[in-house]
Amino acid sequence: MEHSIYEFPQIFRQVHMEEPREIAQEVRFLRRVWRKHSSLPVHRVLDLACGNSPHGQLLARAGIGVVGIDRSRTMIGAGRRESANLEGIRFYRRRIEQFQVPERPFDAAFFMSETFPVMTENRAIVSHLRSVGRLLKRGGLYCIDIDRQDGIRATRTRRLWHRSLRVGEARVEVRGVHRPMPWYSGIYSNFEIACSIRFPDRHVRTRDVVPIRYTLPCTLELLARVSRRFEMIATYTDLSFTKRLSKCHRRWWGVLRRI
Ligand SMILES: C[S@@+](CC[C@H](N)C(=O)[O-])C[C@H]1O[C@@H](n2cnc3c(N)ncnc32)[C@H](O)[C@@H]1O
Repeated sequence: MEHSIYEFPQIFRQVHMEEPREIAQEVRFLRRVWRKHSSLPVHRVLDLACGNSPHGQLLARAGIGVVGIDRSRTMIGAGRRESANLEGIRFYRRRIEQFQVPERPFDAAFFMSETFPVMTENRAIVSHLRSVGRLLKRGGLYCIDIDRQDGIRATRTRRLWHRSLRVGEARVEVRGVHRPMPWYSGIYSNFEIACSIRFPDRHVRTRDVVPIRYTLPCTLELLARVSRRFEMIATYTDLSFTKRLSKCHRRWWGVLRRI
């Protein structure tokens, strides 16, 4: 049976080369953005493509109610296990492109860890924004984290890469393939990632296909307007209020406000 890397939350973080401390830094910055821009006190928040909701778990520990949305049963399962002794965090298994949940409106929403580019079509982004907008109070903020696109070239030829790592007792071999996509698709690459994971007692293979279309600040601003639910009120880079977009090293945030 073929598995997904998202069934193994600890391993996927290292495959994606994330540093554990980044989560706490992002949560601190989120709270600074809320203090600076939100006209609402933030008591309840929505975490989009939450995975096991590491951000939500930190916020729930600080007394904020969190609802996470993700399509992966295993990531949500991990989130439920990890937050079993926490009050005020709930998960729903949904696709982010279009969804509803039986919840009253939230004060803020966020989308962390570079997953926004998996929505590759304008209409998917617009229906996503409408779904989030329906669940946010007027004036509520939606913070979206996106990789810097500079230097990334549309893949024209099939490219392979390989890397080995150790995660606890597991030995992981990662093979990535960037597959070219038609120039008009807007998708920079169709990224296939295959892992061979050797645990002490079993061997698992995973395979995931991740189409990637990077969104620019001007595109997000336009799509926010088109959704008629949001306006983009700020962009920030590398978790700083003062660094300009032109100096962005890794990631930028779009801050949308529900209108
Ligand atoms: C890189 S993880 C990030 C998880 C979490 N936000 C974090 O910072 O750890 C990406 C998550 O997006 C979810 N995901 C990807 N595409 C999705 C979709 N179309 N609908 C819902 N969830 C999706 C995956 O299941 C995975 O849990």
